Parts: sequence; structure tokens; C-alpha cells
Amino acid sequence: AQVEKGGYKHFMAKEIAEQPVVLADALRHYLPKTGLNLPADLDFSGVDRITLIACGTAHYACAVAKYWFEQFAQIPVEIDVASEFRYREPPLSERSFAVFVSQSGETADTLAALRYCSERVAKTVAVVNVPTSSIAREADIALPILAGVEVGVASTKAFTAQLLVLAVMALKAGNDRGTLSPEQIAAHSDTLLTLPGLMNQALTLSEPIARLAEQLAEAQDILFLGRGPMFPLALEGALKLKEISYIHAEGYASGELKHGPIALIDRMVPVIVMAPHDRLFDKTVSNMQEVMARHGMVLLASDAKGLAVAGEGTWATLQLPEIAEPFAPILYAVPAQLLAYYTAVAKGTDVDQPRNLAKSVTVE
Ligand code: G6P
Repeated sequence: AQVEKGGYKHFMAKEIAEQPVVLADALRHYLPKTGLNLPADLDFSGVDRITLIACGTAHYACAVAKYWFEQFAQIPVEIDVASEFRYREPPLSERSFAVFVSQSGETADTLAALRYCSERVAKTVAVVNVPTSSIAREADIALPILAGVEVGVASTKAFTAQLLVLAVMALKAGNDRGTLSPEQIAAHSDTLLTLPGLMNQALTLSEPIARLAEQLAEAQDILFLGRGPMFPLALEGALKLKEISYIHAEGYASGELKHGPIALIDRMVPVIVMAPHDRLFDKTVSNMQEVMARHGMVLLASDAKGLAVAGEGTWATLQLPEIAEPFAPILYAVPAQLLAYYTAVAKGTDVDQPRNLAKSVTVE
């Protein structure tokens, strides 16, 4: 059946708004009351390494998941973009798993990387939105993200659904290897189950974000900062913004600010700081203050605790609900997407079909 915009101005707006429902569906499948629901042959107990390969937004989902696999399962994780990985001829362990993340399941470089791995690793795993796709068919195990058809070229609901499936995989890895206790798995599962509700709350930020976007649309350059698992989310926020608003944007690890990008800061450069009140919050705040001391326009996205400590003196703030540390990137994806979306709307670009970009890149 043809997918309709259903009252939204763009498919992207509809797909952003669908995320609570998409995640609820994926949670029903992967995290039913009986616990983690993944194929039994996806057993991480003897695995010595995980390689996560993808392109574009799916690559940033892998970059977030690296933090989870390392933290929960204490497995060394390598991530790479498929176009680099496939030509590096990387040595691979026969005891390793290789995971390929792709919305379409047809990205040429990702498929080539999968073919390179198939005879060299213990198992290839596909995390895909299209279950009949080439990548799904050729992998040993295919895990559908269950996001439904995504029309907007800039990926939104597929990204958060990819993150959810990768999070459940990382919990299973922790379970299989005995590095997480049943209580820890239950606590992390409970956090994941709160996501649909928290995302609904995050979506209420649409109006304030639309107002801020009027000013962001005037910028030439925008920086996104994050630390820990929020660092790859900063990369994704910058990618989303440049894809559809055509404003130059870069994501940086907060701690890297002083090693280069701080040279760009002046009154005209918005700096979007994605920082839940977590273990490393104080460090991120001191990076943020370095920006403010140079009159950068700081937009701080945090929770009530974080804003109480550090909201003062910023250009703007966005208040997100609290969420346990490792899964904050899934929730903060919503304001990152809304910032890109409304900035593009303010600039009047073709949001669903940005210039020069394709939904699925099936040629090299
Ligand atoms: C294109 C799309 C991106 C997407 C990337 C990877 O560049 O414009 O939104 O993230 O391909 O696509 P895939 O289907 O493999 O996830």
C-alpha cells in the first residue's frame, strides 16, 4: 500500500512523530515480558570481537552501540564505514561476529563488506528494515528493526529502531558472557521499556525547537558536542542538519573541542550541546563554558538536573526527561532530528528529497 503523509507537511515530520509507536512495536517483539527475545544461535559466549559495519546514519547507530557492547559485554568492538572496511582487507577472527546495519538492506558498500566477512567470521548478522533485502538474505542471521516504510531520505525512525535492536543485542551479549547480572539486565530492560513514553514527552519540544530553528537557519556553521555514547549522537545530529538544511555542521567529542574546533567559535556559531546529567556531565559543562567564554551561542539539551546546574548563561535550553545513562542517545535523537527538520523548514529546502542525496545508495 502506498504510504501517505497523514496530515504532516513532510514524510520526515511524520516519521519523527511515529517513533514512540515504532519503538513500542519493536519492544513488544524484542523485549517481551519473558525477557530478551533474540535467536538462540545469536550466542555471544565464545565471541572474541564484534565488527559493526554500515554507512551514513546506520554507521552512527553502530558508533553508539560500540559503547553498549563494550560496557555490557566487555567485548572489543570495531566500527567502520563500509566503503573503507571493504578495501582495507582487515584481518578477522573466526570467533568474531560481524554486524551489518542498513535501513534499506541494499547499500552497495555494506553488501560488499558483508560478502567479505561471510567466509571469515563465525557469524554475520544483519540489522535491517527491509527483511527481503539482499543484506538480510545473505547474512546468517537477519534481525528486522520493524520500523515500517521510511520515505524521507534523511533517516529518523530507522535510526532509533536500529539503536533499540542493537541495545537488546548488547544486553544479550552481556547475558551470554555473564558480564551483566540478571538484575542489571532487568534494570536496563526497564529503561528501554520507558522509551516510547519518554519520546512522546520529547516530541512536545517541537514548538520551542521550531522557534529556535528560525535563528539557527541564519548560521553558516553549527557544532554539535557530546561525550560518551552521546558523542556519536552529536555526529548524527550534525549529519541530519547538513543533509537537509545545507548548513555546514560538525559533531565533536566534547573533550576534543580544545584540539581544533574552538578556533571556530564566535558570536555567530551555534554550539548544540547534548548532555544528560550523567557521570561525565561536569566535564561537558566545562567544555561548554569554554565556548560561552568566547561568546558562542550555546544550546544546551539536558534534563532538569543538568539545566539546574548549567542552564544559566546559555543562549537556549531544551529540557528532556531523565533517562538512565547508556540509553540517552535514543531519546536525544528526537530533539536532534527536530532541530534539523525545523531548520530545514525555516530555510525552505526540500526536506524529504534533499539535493544530491538518495534514499538508498546501490552503486558505489
Ligand atoms: C543514504 C541515505 C542515508 C542512509 C545511508 C545508509 O546515504 O541518504 O539516510 O543512512 O544511505 O543507508 P542504509 O539503507 O544502508 O541504512
